[in-house]
Amino acid sequence: MSETTVNMEKLVNLCQRRGFVFQSSEIYGGLSGCWDYGPLGIELKRNIKQAWWKAMVQDRDDMVGIESSILMAPQVWVASGHLVNFTDPLVECKGCNQRFRADLIAGTKCPNCGGALSEPRNFNTMFKTFIGPVENDASVVYLRPETAQGMFVNFDNVLQTTRKKLPFGIAQQGKSFRNEITTGNFIFRSREFEQMEMEYFVKPGTDEKWFEYWLNERMNWYVNHGIKREHLSILEHEKAKLAHYAKRVCDITFLYPMGWEEIEGLASRTDYDLKQHSNASGKVLDYYDDETKEHYTPYVIEPAVGVDRCFLAFLADAYHEEPDKDETRVVLKFHPSLAPVKVAILPLSKKENLAAYAKDVHQQIRGQYATQYDDTQSIGRRYRRQDEIGTPYCVTVDFQSLEDHRVTVRDRDSMNQIRIPVAELQKTLTAKLAGEAFLKLPAGGEVVTAKGKEA
Ligand code: GAP
Repeated sequence: MSETTVNMEKLVNLCQRRGFVFQSSEIYGGLSGCWDYGPLGIELKRNIKQAWWKAMVQDRDDMVGIESSILMAPQVWVASGHLVNFTDPLVECKGCNQRFRADLIAGTKCPNCGGALSEPRNFNTMFKTFIGPVENDASVVYLRPETAQGMFVNFDNVLQTTRKKLPFGIAQQGKSFRNEITTGNFIFRSREFEQMEMEYFVKPGTDEKWFEYWLNERMNWYVNHGIKREHLSILEHEKAKLAHYAKRVCDITFLYPMGWEEIEGLASRTDYDLKQHSNASGKVLDYYDDETKEHYTPYVIEPAVGVDRCFLAFLADAYHEEPDKDETRVVLKFHPSLAPVKVAILPLSKKENLAAYAKDVHQQIRGQYATQYDDTQSIGRRYRRQDEIGTPYCVTVDFQSLEDHRVTVRDRDSMNQIRIPVAELQKTLTAKLAGEAFLKLPAGGEVVTAKGKEA
């Protein structure tokens, strides 16, 4: 099993320095368990969400998406079991009064001061607030701790409006909130985070087959987007310790800088949620099977993943340090579909005639992909900067370009360079971003350097 190559300090440092992630409310000393995504971070996050949405919704006939509200009727959380069961065991140090999640600390003493710990008590991690101007028991609502319930309570709305046949799924992405007792490991465990969840409704009895199917699909999704297969693993939950709604649960775990941890949970939720909401609301949430002429409550398979944990995993696996002459090159080898910037346009000088030409080249391609125009510092430093933010291709415009209307394209991973006609640039970049070999040339192109190993 291969070991992780990057430590957390380097990742946090890079994220701060290059504008991927900042601490929330940093100028006030920060708010624990909350993070802000900077200019590059938001691009990476959106690309991750888009890659998931494409694979889970847009590329499939058996899937639809929704976006439900974060605040839901409080009865939802009674019926789902969260009001009673969504708890973590909390222990408090009798010496320094610090609180810990009992299942996340080793031993029986306080990890902070070595003092004695209280008996564990169950702490409900849902955030409470009030709806409307009066703050009383009748106006209590919760910030959702998972997006999943939005899909269950809309099951019949979706069924009636889309006329989907089983098996089919409902997917959504959105913020969830958990008042975690302890947060940590950067964006891994926070109090405000984003989830991408899908509820796949199946005929009872076919659930085991579909569980295997989704486990396989989800593992492939990570690998197809650049995660090393040897950095993923599957952890089967013990039957005795399953969540209150689950028949079977597997975690997909990833080798994070701090070790193996859950990136995604796959749960077989049976008909628990639909039945609970049916009973509590009085609205029948079942399915009429045209073929067998039966009414039944579907079973559910749920792949549930955190966007922030995906972000950290894609970042950790992309991070490479390579010797480059006397220095070390830091490069984020993101899959092109996830890279925050796809192409950088780098004029060799700021001289007016060259800048005008380079801006014209930029204009021709900027509508197609996320681009950056950078004319500061030496070309070597600019390449370094683009490597460090994971830009797959740099396009250099030099004085010769004004004569021959050709530009140099540099490949991030191999550092190989080709020179191609500007007229072929857009087509060539599109092909290479889709996986074409870098040294494959368009008409009128030539290889400038081909020392690096081609990916
Ligand atoms: N609907 C099922 C559900 O929410 P979960 O295992 O509690 O299951 C699913 O959460 C995923 O959400 C986790 O695998 C993780 O990626 C992410 N997640 C959960 N709690 C989180 C937290 N405090 N911070 C960041 N991500 C979290």
